[in-house]
Amino acid sequence: MKALIIGGTSGLGRALAAEFIAAGWETSVTGLREEALKEFSSAFPSARASRLDVSAPEARDAVEALLAGTGGADAVAVCAGLYQDDPGADWAAEEKVIAVNAAGCAAALNAAYSYFRKKGSGRLACVSSIGGVRGNARCPAYNASKAFLFNYLEGLRQNAAQAGAEISVTNIIPAYVGDGRGCGKAMLAAIMKGRRSVYLPGYWRLLAAVYRNLPDLVHEKMASWHYVLLKPFMRRAPRWKQ
Ligand SMILES: NC(=O)c1ccc[n+]([C@@H]2O[C@H](COP(=O)([O-])OP(=O)(O)OC[C@H]3O[C@@H](n4cnc5c(N)ncnc54)[C@H](OP(=O)(O)O)[C@@H]3O)[C@@H](O)[C@H]2O)c1
Repeated sequence: MKALIIGGTSGLGRALAAEFIAAGWETSVTGLREEALKEFSSAFPSARASRLDVSAPEARDAVEALLAGTGGADAVAVCAGLYQDDPGADWAAEEKVIAVNAAGCAAALNAAYSYFRKKGSGRLACVSSIGGVRGNARCPAYNASKAFLFNYLEGLRQNAAQAGAEISVTNIIPAYVGDGRGCGKAMLAAIMKGRRSVYLPGYWRLLAAVYRNLPDLVHEKMASWHYVLLKPFMRRAPRWKQ
């Protein structure tokens, strides 16, 4: 069995790659930084690692080429992502975040999904974020890019169902998990079970349901105290506090 992980050299993607490798899958990953690629290759010599910037115009073609070059894949996970603290809603930061998290991840997902559609089966997964549930003052484009992924994955899932293809589409929704250590097993299990979504940690499914249904006025007012309110449920401090 073969797995391809886009953004698999660090954090959550790396934790997932380690689980695929431990389970005996032939695993390929992509990363962005040369030092991360080198470090990954020395830690996991059996895996292939190559550079890919999902925000580059040729990203979709590059994912297709990777799939062709490795003789295909049974599972593809898109774990690449960029967080930028952006309380000033600065367009330069927002544009970059949208290019990586929305357009870039969609290009990679689309290439993998199209491959699975032709094949008739496959396991597709993507790491979004709890931020996709609602907007946030600290990083408006980040949360919006993750909301885009929620919707895009849902569309691909419905598209697969309509086509009668055996393609599972798993939305992995982390909440304040830091470097992702300890998350790999839950991610792999969700992909193997073909789950539609998995929250990390799981109790965030309940918190998300409450948060999603808060009245708009309460949501606007809580911008300044939402960290204090959510702190007891955070495994790690939010990235802007690290
Ligand atoms: N950690 C959390 O608490 C948390 C919470 C919610 C959501 N998330 C989401 O989970 C995903 C992974 O986050 P993480 O915390 O594990 O981050 P991370 O450690 O920074 O890992 C991100 C991965 O994506 C790659 N990457 C970054 N920019 C890229 C680009 N333009 N094109 C292709 N690959 C790129 C990185 O490559 P290099 O290794 O070369 O840098 C790395 O492999 C992200 O989508 C993030 O938004 C994380």
